[in-house]
Amino acid sequence: MISLCEERKIVITSKILTPLTVDKWLIRNRLVVPPMVTWAASPEGLVSDYQLQHYGSFRDVGMIVVEATTVSPEGRLSPRQIGAFDDRHLPGLRRLAATIHEQEALAAIQLHHAGGHTSLENTYGLPPVAPSAVTRHPSQTVPRAMEKADIERIQADFVAAARRAREAGFDAIELHGAHGYLLSQFFSPAMNHREDEYGGSLENRARFALELVRQVNAAVGKDCLVYVRFGAADNVENGLSLQEGLQIAKWLAEAGAKMLHISGGVGGAPLTQFAEGDTWSPTMRLAAQVKRVVDVPVIGVGGIVQPDQAEAALNAGLVDMVAVGKAMLADPQWASKGFGLNPQPINVCQKCPRCGHYKHPFTCPARMRG
Ligand SMILES: Cc1cc2nc3c(=O)[nH]c(=O)nc-3n(C[C@H](O)[C@H](O)[C@H](O)COP(=O)(O)O)c2cc1C
Repeated sequence: MISLCEERKIVITSKILTPLTVDKWLIRNRLVVPPMVTWAASPEGLVSDYQLQHYGSFRDVGMIVVEATTVSPEGRLSPRQIGAFDDRHLPGLRRLAATIHEQEALAAIQLHHAGGHTSLENTYGLPPVAPSAVTRHPSQTVPRAMEKADIERIQADFVAAARRAREAGFDAIELHGAHGYLLSQFFSPAMNHREDEYGGSLENRARFALELVRQVNAAVGKDCLVYVRFGAADNVENGLSLQEGLQIAKWLAEAGAKMLHISGGVGGAPLTQFAEGDTWSPTMRLAAQVKRVVDVPVIGVGGIVQPDQAEAALNAGLVDMVAVGKAMLADPQWASKGFGLNPQPINVCQKCPRCGHYKHPFTCPARMRG
């Protein structure tokens, strides 16, 4: 049991500040900092001082998820991505977990493989691999279709990275199964044209991820909360449908995913769900739909900039936890200020495109003002 239950002497008036117990882990409140790449690691994938300072700046949240961290050299998405594919990454990961623990938050890390959604200059010259030799971006290298041996090797890479994360002191492992990266590519009929047991039927397209959840749980599930960031529907022609996504969500939970953090799959958030003037983002609506069909806690994300929106999402029963991304970059003390632990006003996210383009968070105009 993680000892995060030392609540400060505050009056709990809001649902967001209510602790959540998942299996044997106590999460002190319902706010999550979702994974957000800083692209600030060294070219070898080592955690930088900048990143320690960045992750140490978030206050009074329940869980902080470290950005997409590559499990294999050939799965790397950017030359400045954090790595967890070698023991030399361990000391930096250890410092990162300790920094998050200093904030009394559950320390999670997102384990990632870009699959075919990368290019040779990012992969240390190794040919990118994917379920099929398909790419959506002309600038990207056409990946090599994975053979059975590649599947086993990459699953083993995820397991080894999860073991390193555990050794480094992380409490939770978030497997990246969204946004068109490797797991998403397997789920998606638009990207997965395989004719073996990993392609074709929904069951086959889900196989890679379901096997992975079981393997990672078997390796570290006793010590770490293993869960999935799941892109529950694609936003491309012939992509993963919502109906299919809901079925996979149930299978992921049955396979042992202890939470689901819902986002979009290939092509981002499914615009078909979005209505002009809607209170909730497409991804939050997706999460609410997933919550209706699974028994594990669901994290919703997307478009929350004010604390009352997060509170309303929980009060409406849409989700069990709320992740706040760009607004936390604009003000890492968003939670403390929003819930009366710090009297200062929030530097409100202006929803400008800068961090959406994954630029350095400190160029955020709201943050510069603060
Ligand atoms: C700068 C930046 C980096 C991101 N990096 C990741 C990432 O590493 N992994 C991931 O799954 N999503 C990533 N995302 C998506 C966020 O986790 C989140 O889902 C998205 O920003 C929507 O939430 P928001 O409206 O609260 O910002 C990133 C978003 C931003 C703005």
